[in-house]
Amino acid sequence: MKAITYHNYGDPSVLNLSDIKSPILTKNDSLIRNYASTVSSGDSRVRAARPWLIRLFYGLIKPKCNVMGQDFAGIVIRTAESSQFQLNDRIIGITGYNMGGHAEHVKITSKNIVAKSPNNWTLEESATLSFGGMTALSFLKQLPATEKGKILIHGASGAIGTYAVQLAKHMGYHVTAVCSTNNVSLMYELGADKVIDYKKQDFTTFKNEFDAVFTTVGKTSYTACQSIMKKHATYISSDTPFSDYIRQIFKLKGKHHQLKMGVGHNTVELLEELVQLAEAGHISPVIDRIYTVDQAIEAHQYVDTGHKVGAVVLTF
Ligand SMILES: NC(=O)c1ccc[n+]([C@@H]2O[C@H](COP(=O)([O-])OP(=O)(O)OC[C@H]3O[C@@H](n4cnc5c(N)ncnc54)[C@H](OP(=O)(O)O)[C@@H]3O)[C@@H](O)[C@H]2O)c1
Repeated sequence: MKAITYHNYGDPSVLNLSDIKSPILTKNDSLIRNYASTVSSGDSRVRAARPWLIRLFYGLIKPKCNVMGQDFAGIVIRTAESSQFQLNDRIIGITGYNMGGHAEHVKITSKNIVAKSPNNWTLEESATLSFGGMTALSFLKQLPATEKGKILIHGASGAIGTYAVQLAKHMGYHVTAVCSTNNVSLMYELGADKVIDYKKQDFTTFKNEFDAVFTTVGKTSYTACQSIMKKHATYISSDTPFSDYIRQIFKLKGKHHQLKMGVGHNTVELLEELVQLAEAGHISPVIDRIYTVDQAIEAHQYVDTGHKVGAVVLTF
């Protein structure tokens, strides 16, 4: 079976299409013929070991896990005795930090975060839910469950941002999206109430305006956003500068502000909730480009630009 492998950190040119062993199924395992996965900002980071500290988890000299990819969307082609799925079920899932999603076949066990894919979405579309959708939902769930007010979403055109805009709107927030000029109309299509084009306007000129701020792509910080937040506002961030962690540790923040940063927590429940929202038409996928597996190097080079809109999908 084929997989995108990488043997060194660094440039996308270290990626190969390799043959790897077919897995043995036991107990409740299932084998998925993978048809689509995304090349995410996370894949780009791990491949390039950016920041360097990533090597402490993935291997100092070279990656311990050599198959790339953090999500998959495919069809069950083999099951073990007590598998939770049946043959031909359409499945999506996230492998996350364990990687291994960029393989033609993926073995899943009862411990994996998987769900049946939305019945009205293609597998390419469904593949976008696990990374972008689940990260967005897991951070938005950390906001207070009380009355929804105004939220500002920074980095709204990325894989996380495009879902964050739709999910926040569905949750009942008044959504202000921050993006570049080319993506302004997309933000309104996704349901944003207001859009700030960061090339033309500085969003930090608003004062005491927002009940929540979600920064997704690490191009701003709590320090910069502090003055736009109301007294009891919450700041959530999926990509946080080191200085914000220092502020959080030493409580160098607005007295009443809540800061929620770090990693999103992926769960089966979140994935199933996203599937339900997709089937009900409350969220839609945003796909920038689709590459075939033998174009993985080009896909990575494009993701490395940092300008993709929504997801980049790889098909197998
Ligand atoms: N904490 C967690 O658990 C977790 C989980 C998943 C991912 N992440 C991290 O979250 C980050 C974002 O992920 P993603 O996949 O959503 O990123 P992405 O899809 O690569 O985001 C790219 C988008 O950011 C926009 N952008 C670039 N510069 C910007 C700026 N100055 N202001 C506003 N928007 C800007 C780009 O559009 P323009 O260039 O046109 O503006 C582009 O549409 C990554 O660093 C990833 O590693 C964290």
